[in-house]
Amino acid sequence: MLRTPLCELLRIDAPILCAPFGPWDQVELAAAVCEAGGLGALGTAAGSVPELEAQWRTLRERTPKPFAINHQIRPFDEDAFEATLRFAPPAISFHMAVFPELIERAHAAGSLWIQQVIDRRQAERALDAGADVIVAQGGSGGSSRRTRSTPSRSRTPSACCRPTTARAAPPTRARCERR
Ligand SMILES: Cc1cc2nc3c(=O)[nH]c(=O)nc-3n(C[C@H](O)[C@H](O)[C@H](O)COP(=O)(O)O)c2cc1C
Repeated sequence: MLRTPLCELLRIDAPILCAPFGPWDQVELAAAVCEAGGLGALGTAAGSVPELEAQWRTLRERTPKPFAINHQIRPFDEDAFEATLRFAPPAISFHMAVFPELIERAHAAGSLWIQQVIDRRQAERALDAGADVIVAQGGSGGSSRRTRSTPSRSRTPSACCRPTTARAAPPTRARCERR
């Protein structure tokens, strides 16, 4: 099976990341992706904190494998983000904007940061801010779509990570490996 540094960093078997869909419960999908060796993900948009915590617990019961909890700015829910930090998932992914302060808080909680970006400038900002993984988000990403966004079916790499596996000590060098 194809293994890349992304697998080492995220502790997954295949370099496949589940796309998060905010408003719906996607626990079964995330569990299936995790069990198949990829990184499952759960969106948080429009969910109450108790609902979201119940989803996270259910996913944790379904699989011991790593997964990401996703947040975004439309709307950004501070209570849900705080709850995510308390839960401390292996990774937190973020959609639509780069906020260095949120990345710092995620690292302090022990979670890796997966930044979804729509162009090179945003990717560079994310790396400068300490993001561990960059996802080039496809043009079908709802209303986040812009003319500069990555074509979904392009041959461009869609995810890359920093050259490290040290989760406890996120690297400071803003370098992104292309593969
Ligand atoms: C209805 C809808 C809701 C979405 N909600 C979220 C979300 O809450 N968080 C997020 O990061 N991405 C969200 N996305 C974007 C998807 O996760 C994914 O990045 C996008 O569909 C592009 O996928 P592709 O790169 O495989 O084409 C949403 C997309 C759609 C169509």
